[in-house]
Amino acid sequence: MTRNDVAFSDVSALEVLDSRGNPTLQVTLTDRDGVRYVAGVPSGASTGTREAVELRDGDDKRFGGKGVMHAVANVDGELADLLRSRTWASLADLDAAMIELDGTPTKSRLGANALVGVSMAAARAFAGGDPLWVSLRPADVEARLPVPHLNVLNGGVHAPNDLDFQEFMIAPVGAPSFPEAVRAGAAVYAALRSLLRTRGDATGLGDEGGFAPDIAQPEDVLRLIVQAIGDAGYPAGASGVAIALDPAASEFYRDGSYHVAGETLSSDDMIARYEQIAADFPVWSLEDGLAEGDWDGWERLTARLGERLQLVGDDIFVTNPAIITEAIGRGVGNSSLIKLNQIGTVTETLDAQRISREAGYTQMVSHRSGETPDPFIADLTVATGTGQLKSGAPARGERVAKYNRLLEIAATAPELPYGLTSEARLR
Ligand code: PGA
Ligand code: ZN
Repeated sequence: MTRNDVAFSDVSALEVLDSRGNPTLQVTLTDRDGVRYVAGVPSGASTGTREAVELRDGDDKRFGGKGVMHAVANVDGELADLLRSRTWASLADLDAAMIELDGTPTKSRLGANALVGVSMAAARAFAGGDPLWVSLRPADVEARLPVPHLNVLNGGVHAPNDLDFQEFMIAPVGAPSFPEAVRAGAAVYAALRSLLRTRGDATGLGDEGGFAPDIAQPEDVLRLIVQAIGDAGYPAGASGVAIALDPAASEFYRDGSYHVAGETLSSDDMIARYEQIAADFPVWSLEDGLAEGDWDGWERLTARLGERLQLVGDDIFVTNPAIITEAIGRGVGNSSLIKLNQIGTVTETLDAQRISREAGYTQMVSHRSGETPDPFIADLTVATGTGQLKSGAPARGERVAKYNRLLEIAATAPELPYGLTSEARLR
């Protein structure tokens, strides 16, 4: 049963490596009964400029400046003192105290990487032996297994190829269950590998486990993925395996223009390109189609394609309740990407999710390109009934840890519904 009286006897962090070989934090909390709760902190590469601040040491002699010893010291010092100072009635209570102690609007003093690790481990302490997906569920939400959005082809800053669009995901929306969706994802991934090999393309992997061939045009990639879906024996589209894109357009937006495969495009050119892509391919979801600073473009994108496509805000929303509220008011996007470390506490993440839900915005819970084996987001997506999760390819341990945790949840709770929410299905 979820607890409302947690006291901690020990709080510490360790500098460990993430999936890219960069340092990150592993946080361990010990409660008064001697039970330990551990969390691993994710880290992005194509980050939004308004994300909560990840504290890095900046000492070039260690890990190229990416060390996190200061953040570790903040957990071991100030945050440990705070957590041990009293009994905590709830995670919200604890998160609020950490935010107050940090004292900055962006968590830049103690570090969002320090805070989010403590918050995630504390969420496990408050679960009191319940699975996290049970204890994190808001009272008015129905738990649900998500459609996995498997990133099978990587570009942008996640791969050393010429492809500007960052993520090409397959979404088995037509699968009858979560395990069948994972099976479909793995089958399409294998078919895509064979197809790339046959063509003589490279089958090395990008940061999120997708293939990273040297193909510059997004439409050429989409053609290959549609073929791989067919080769694996599934229909492409709503009745089988659909496609989701995350171009991560902030990364190729410079001087007011979008730079894609050698072309220089305006916001309206990009919108027209996406409209054509949506007409030609079974793409159902588009994340960060335009840059985080291009709010006017986003308004036009939403007006023109919002009925047809799920338009997910990642860099532009950064899981920030205030920014999502502004976006809802301006009619920008219709879906929020949810990343714990963009905002820095579990409580604020749940707030961002509540605000999105109440406005009828859909949600996709997300990993980061730098990950640990911690499967926290698998439980989070089930608890908050989002119906969508992206955790990279069906390959590489830190990616499949999340899908495997969901397989475990599906096996232990066969009553859980699977699939997109009704808001998402409307599109
Ligand atoms: P990041 O990218 O984790 O490198 O920021 C993921 C995304 O853009 O969705
Ligand atoms: Zn993104």
